[in-house]
Amino acid sequence: MANNEKSKKLFIQTLGCQMNSTDSMHMIAELKEHKNYDVTETMEEADLIIINTCSVREKPVQKLFSEIGQFNVKKKPGAKIGVSGCTASHLGQDIIKRAPYVDFVLGARNISKISEVVDIKGSVEIDIKHDESTYEFAEYKNTMYRTSVNISVGCDKECTYCIVPATRGVEISIPPEMIIKEIEKAVNNGAVEVTLLGQNVNSYGRRFTDKRPKSTFTQLLKDISKIPEIKRIRFTSPHPLHMDDTFIEEFAANDKISKCIHMPLQSGSTSILKAMKRGYSKKWFLNRAQKIKDLVPNVRITTDIIAGFPGETDEDFEDTMDVIRQVKFDQIFNFKYSPRPNTAAEKMTDLVENKVASKRLTEIIELSKLQMDVHMRAKVGSVMEVLFEDLKPNGEIAGFTDNYCQVFVKGSDELLGKIVKVKIISNSRTSLKGELLN
Ligand code: 5AD
Ligand code: SF4
Repeated sequence: MANNEKSKKLFIQTLGCQMNSTDSMHMIAELKEHKNYDVTETMEEADLIIINTCSVREKPVQKLFSEIGQFNVKKKPGAKIGVSGCTASHLGQDIIKRAPYVDFVLGARNISKISEVVDIKGSVEIDIKHDESTYEFAEYKNTMYRTSVNISVGCDKECTYCIVPATRGVEISIPPEMIIKEIEKAVNNGAVEVTLLGQNVNSYGRRFTDKRPKSTFTQLLKDISKIPEIKRIRFTSPHPLHMDDTFIEEFAANDKISKCIHMPLQSGSTSILKAMKRGYSKKWFLNRAQKIKDLVPNVRITTDIIAGFPGETDEDFEDTMDVIRQVKFDQIFNFKYSPRPNTAAEKMTDLVENKVASKRLTEIIELSKLQMDVHMRAKVGSVMEVLFEDLKPNGEIAGFTDNYCQVFVKGSDELLGKIVKVKIISNSRTSLKGELLN
């Protein structure tokens, strides 16, 4: 777009998962290219305010209405407000009914329509069948050494607690050549690391818009690792059910794949896993985790756990604690079960008392803290390769190891974008300090 008129200002607030972050990047790029908006960090000076929402748990939904209310009070006169993302998909028109000052509602999976809806007061675009898997978004100019790329939209699973299939629709894989092209664009801007994103990345390749033959996630990993400038590949979230031997063997053997893997457990009890429709048992999960550990000695394994799913007994919870004790996760993202609309679990009646769910959550957190301390302490004295990417005002520079530990050293901007050997000298629960090895 010709840039002779003064650009307008866009303030965008992103909640939720990493897919929402890429959706926000796509909106920023589209609005820059087609509508001459530049991002501002100051809401009060914005001509357009977008809140990109999450609906996976109850709290963010309540927060949304208080937040847009605040935006409406503090915004510049005439500034527009848009609500996008998963809560937009699930509440749709109701958002405008409840908050009539909202100018447009744009559901997840409809992000490519941003340039249209922005100028149509009252527009609501939330079709979860809309297919934008082959839409070529305007280029988001990243200045980072790492980039994130969506590899699929939607999710075909039917986990009984999860609202995502209702907000993001069925799963469609993005064609591999489009993914590679996206990564190559980021490489031209300096990226050396890529994170592949999808609700269920390792079921990649089962359905494409153009009905081409099926492919696999393992094949995609192989193809991406042929890009010479890409030094590290990360991905989230994989599903434990689809962690077959071929995938685990590629994960272990391919030096470009970051040795940190997210294995969302949700529950350690086989009967609760069944009620959640996760498709695997406690035994399968433990077997997969052990295989990964056997093949990748320095692996870090992170997980998601829901405490207090309907019907969860003390015995079921003990199974969860047992898996935590055996796998010794490097990080656990814990959630108290929250009933969501349009899910099968919403109708379950054997709810766990809030007090009991809170107690279980605390038990998980306490055990996880102990395990994190052990893991991090064990790294002191070792030598790790760190990709540096963030210069701090205090003369430190931060980066991540191949297995995704954050490391700080004293250093200068010469290190930015480089992978360098570091001797680890101390730790906290969440990061390491080190010295450069010459
Ligand atoms: N209640 C609590 N946690 C949930 N998650 C998804 N849905 C719910 C829910 N209804 C958690 C899962 C998922 C993570 C992104 O959010 O652990 O892996
Ligand atoms: Fe939240 Fe799930 Fe939507 Fe991501 S996909 S924004 S986690 S509801």
